[in-house]
Amino acid sequence: MATKISSIFPVSENVARMKASSTLAAMQAADALRAAGVDVVDLGAGEPDFDTPQNIKDAATEAMRAGQTKYTPTAGTRKLQQAVIDFYQREFGAGYERNQVMATAGGKQAVFNAVVSLINPDDEVLIPKPYWVTFPEIVTFARGKSVPIESESNDFVLTAEMVREAVTSRTRLIILNSPSNPSGRVIPPAEFERIMEIVAERGMYAISDECYLRFVYPPATVFSAASLRPELRQRLCIAGSFSKTYAMTGWRAGYSLANADWTRAMLKVQGHSTSNTTSISQAAAAEALNGPQGSVATMLKEYTRRREWLLKALNEIPGLRCPQPEGAFYAFPDVRGCLRDELKTSAEFVNELLEKEQTVVTDGEGFGADGYIRISYATSLDRLQEGVKRIRRVCTWKS
Ligand SMILES: Cc1ncc(COP(=O)(O)O)c(C=O)c1O
Repeated sequence: MATKISSIFPVSENVARMKASSTLAAMQAADALRAAGVDVVDLGAGEPDFDTPQNIKDAATEAMRAGQTKYTPTAGTRKLQQAVIDFYQREFGAGYERNQVMATAGGKQAVFNAVVSLINPDDEVLIPKPYWVTFPEIVTFARGKSVPIESESNDFVLTAEMVREAVTSRTRLIILNSPSNPSGRVIPPAEFERIMEIVAERGMYAISDECYLRFVYPPATVFSAASLRPELRQRLCIAGSFSKTYAMTGWRAGYSLANADWTRAMLKVQGHSTSNTTSISQAAAAEALNGPQGSVATMLKEYTRRREWLLKALNEIPGLRCPQPEGAFYAFPDVRGCLRDELKTSAEFVNELLEKEQTVVTDGEGFGADGYIRISYATSLDRLQEGVKRIRRVCTWKS
């Protein structure tokens, strides 16, 4: 009998300890159903259902025509670096220099670079729950130790007090993500500042993943850690992304903003792994920041409409409870009130929804929040309405 290659391949210890991405698995489950011709309702997607705006596509076409198809500096083209600097100056009054800015293949690579350039074996990294699935896996890869912070008692809004209690002499880093994937919750700016004061006091560092920066719903307001006092910013790496804001997930464009030393270390990591992100995507990303911003407002308006409908509809389902997300495009309801003997966990709930109702959502377990599910409203209101109908059936089904 042939031996399966996977059974003999000696996977490295670092990688063997990593979990595969549950959000990407949800996308694959939806794809497989669609390929089989099933009428699937996909509420698993972590990406906008909008197309990339035309001015951004045109900038990419123009870059190709002009022969911008070669390697760029690892830190990115001057044009993109300047566009990022100008954006943060304009929007948040933050002064960054070119040696503090780096273009990356998405916000994910910015977080990866930042973690692996800082963390030594057994360093503790604070990761507030619920967390984006990738954060603890990168820490595992770097041989650090993830220390989750519970915030469920405060409906998943992190406070400085929670951070203070979790810090030990081994804590090196905290990874913040506001608005959060998956909860959509936002850390109030004053609380964010207090958290960064603890970071400074304890000689730690922070990553602020600002991937959903621009998708915030009033009364919450757009806040970037870039607007903090310079001495707090010294200990901070901002991971930014074009994926969600400009519907550019496939372009793989993001950036980091950090002090010059941290940036130099990150350049080493990226210089020996992916080099630069694509020259064409960089031209597109520069246009995204420099060009008209109407598309962002249009997307936000549509997300706002869907969010309003969805939250009301979810909270009307018996047993289900959904705190108000203030940002991003996810709802993160607690489904424990819908569990029963034949459906004991949120993982089983998600499975039932997939098998009986052909509806894809993501189990909270991968985000460190068993008992919850993530519902993406980056899909049309029609599909959302159909999906909620199906969720209601699973919640209220009686044997
Ligand atoms: C919190 C968070 N950070 C980063 C990313 C990665 O974005 P990018 O496509 O820019 O790598 C995602 C994508 O889902 C995310 O949710």
